[in-house]
Amino acid sequence: MEKLYRLLYPMRIVLVTSRAKGKDNIMTAAWCFPLSMDPPLFGVSLSDSRHSFSVMEEGKCFGINLVAPEMREAALLCGTKSGREVDKFAESGLTKEEGEKIGCALIGESPVSIECRLVDTIKTGDHYLLVGEAVNVKKRKESKGLYQKAGTDWIEV
Ligand SMILES: Cc1cc2nc3c(=O)[nH]c(=O)nc-3n(C[C@H](O)[C@H](O)[C@H](O)COP(=O)(O)O)c2cc1C
Repeated sequence: MEKLYRLLYPMRIVLVTSRAKGKDNIMTAAWCFPLSMDPPLFGVSLSDSRHSFSVMEEGKCFGINLVAPEMREAALLCGTKSGREVDKFAESGLTKEEGEKIGCALIGESPVSIECRLVDTIKTGDHYLLVGEAVNVKKRKESKGLYQKAGTDWIEV
């Protein structure tokens, strides 16, 4: 079967941060989208093979951190290595910030970070839709974003 999902590309790249038992992780995701205005809900679609999946399930929170063009290398690292093996905050050099409302880890270099409380996990085929309610938004600067066309072919918009 063709990769039909590619019909919707390019898609914005974000860094999803998670925290459980005092350990933080970062994962690159392109399947992240708004689900509801009131309440403000966002969804991120994850394979349960991702370490982030277990951390998010356990910690019940996650951060959606927009990616600026200068964060390309870090996004590549966070999308190719697993938090099971490496501390991606240490390896990427990204700055860890504390979420102000529910204390989830956020990324200081990100133009915008959305702190979410995990409110639902729905199995959708070979992925899981993790639904987060936005409890706080931190806007740091105006910036272009990075969008995935395919693989590592990313464009600035
Ligand atoms: C541009 C890009 C977008 C990605 N989007 C997703 C996604 O939406 N959902 C997903 O489950 N994995 C996605 N991945 C793969 C994960 O980021 C990758 O498997 C990562 O190593 C998982 O890290 P973890 O095991 O620490 O959670 C993407 C990777 C890249 C490079």
